[in-house]
Amino acid sequence: MIFEASDAPELRTAHVIVVANEKGGSGKSTLSIHLAVALLKAGYRVATIDLDIRQRSLTRFFENRASFANTAPWPVELPRHFAPDRAEGANVHENESAEFAVFAEAIGEVEHEYEFVVIDTPASDSYLMRLAHSLADTLISPMNDSFIDMDVLSRVHHDRARRGMVSQYAEIVIEARRKRRLVDNGLIDWVLVRNRIASLKSNNARQVDQALRKLAVELQFRVAEGLHDRVIFRELFPLGLTALDALEEANHTLTPSQVSARREIETLLGDLMLPERVEGSDHLQSRHLWFEAISGYYRELTAKKAE
Ligand SMILES: Nc1ncnc2c1ncn2[C@@H]1O[C@H](COP(=O)(O)OP(=O)(O)OP(=O)(O)O)[C@@H](O)[C@H]1O
Ligand SMILES: [Mg+2]
Repeated sequence: MIFEASDAPELRTAHVIVVANEKGGSGKSTLSIHLAVALLKAGYRVATIDLDIRQRSLTRFFENRASFANTAPWPVELPRHFAPDRAEGANVHENESAEFAVFAEAIGEVEHEYEFVVIDTPASDSYLMRLAHSLADTLISPMNDSFIDMDVLSRVHHDRARRGMVSQYAEIVIEARRKRRLVDNGLIDWVLVRNRIASLKSNNARQVDQALRKLAVELQFRVAEGLHDRVIFRELFPLGLTALDALEEANHTLTPSQVSARREIETLLGDLMLPERVEGSDHLQSRHLWFEAISGYYRELTAKKAE
């Protein structure tokens, strides 16, 4: 993958963040929820799209949040939310066209007015899931510190000769990147976010970490230290709230773990290196700065891979 400065694509205003990984239960919806709320709290215009048509976790969360907002003692930020339905006709081709139309309409509605679009995806491979991948500016894949989760990216095998084969999910990302370059010369910043990290650093965590850093050069992704395993990341779902909300105003004294949770989300936002608001310039300009910074990073990673 070689990027030239002159190759800069026509960027849309909205920065599309897709949260995806074929590994079920890795934390896609949890990360989507926390990122969307964090960006809203930072004052950005945020749209959310729930492509997990069966589970609808992101949709359920924002329904809960909207109903909390009705009687909330403090202002509760809400995104513009889309929950497209799956087309269930007999003809696969027609279904894909219908799904494409609904998804494209949602993106079309928000791509110029909103600054971020956060898309949660299902664990299963589907047409819409692949489509979302090829639209991603930032692709976030949460994973647990486990060789089972790593295996979804690259086969972890005791036999050295068979180790390191690219797995199906990595193929999906490689294909999305290829398409993306053809369509608008854009790039997909792929960030692996570690999730449910245990408080005590184990031998296993260290081994996974090492293996992941090697794989990062091979598959061209970045690694971000994500979220620890904390009750606060799951207990507020029924209320549509997160650790970032003004819990202290509801006479809920923040525990040290909740304070740490907020810090972890802030650090994660920093690690994602998303376009940031710059005084005196608009979001599209920030997106261009982002593109330059990220393409520089991948140029270096490509050179490292070639060594
Ligand atoms: N950092 C965390 N701390 C505590 N619990 C977590 C954390 N991340 C995720 N969980 C919990 O783990 C479970 C799976 O998380 P989540 O639903 O976000 O994963 P997912 O990847 O969206 O799953 P699916 O593939 O089924 O869509 C949920 O019960 C969630 O509350
Ligand atoms: Mg989910």
